[in-house]
Amino acid sequence: MPISADGGKLLYNLIRATKPTCVVEFGTSYGISTLHLAAAVRDNGTGQVITTEMSRTKAASARTTFAATGLDDVITVLEGDALQTLAALREPVDFLFLDGWKDLCLPVLELLEPHIAPGTLVVADDVVLPSLGPYLDYVRDTANGYHSVTFPVDDGLEISCRL
Ligand SMILES: C[S@@+](CC[C@H](N)C(=O)[O-])C[C@H]1O[C@@H](n2cnc3c(N)ncnc32)[C@H](O)[C@@H]1O
Repeated sequence: MPISADGGKLLYNLIRATKPTCVVEFGTSYGISTLHLAAAVRDNGTGQVITTEMSRTKAASARTTFAATGLDDVITVLEGDALQTLAALREPVDFLFLDGWKDLCLPVLELLEPHIAPGTLVVADDVVLPSLGPYLDYVRDTANGYHSVTFPVDDGLEISCRL
């Protein structure tokens, strides 16, 4: 279930506009969304993408694609459960894309919140999926420190700004 082409173009534009130093992605799969993120980072001339995938087979396939496209020097693939691999992250997260299993999007956000400064964009894919409900409830409540809007492209992207 890769991101749609329009969703990928939106991610590209958001990254070109915000020029993040560190982009984190939850859920690489075969790397389609990562290519959009990394292309924007490459065209910005600065930054890196850290992406996470628990399937060894998918991670290996994605790495092959990243090398073939010449974007591998701006991408780091963390293999394993993102709740464990991202726990070791120490640097600020300047852009977060959440596209792993939907019931884990909120736990991953909560794990990374200490590294997310005000003004940071957090984007989640597949707003239509019921399992993303707890995450959507959280980011749509301004008491939790986000201003959130649904962007109706394909299965819906939720774009949330850390306040
Ligand atoms: C919808 S796919 C990602 C699609 C990809 N972002 C794209 O647009 O090309 C979700 C991926 O998240 C991975 N995933 C799910 N839970 C994970 C976890 N706890 N840690 C790391 N990866 C996980 C799955 O193995 C799957 O490949």
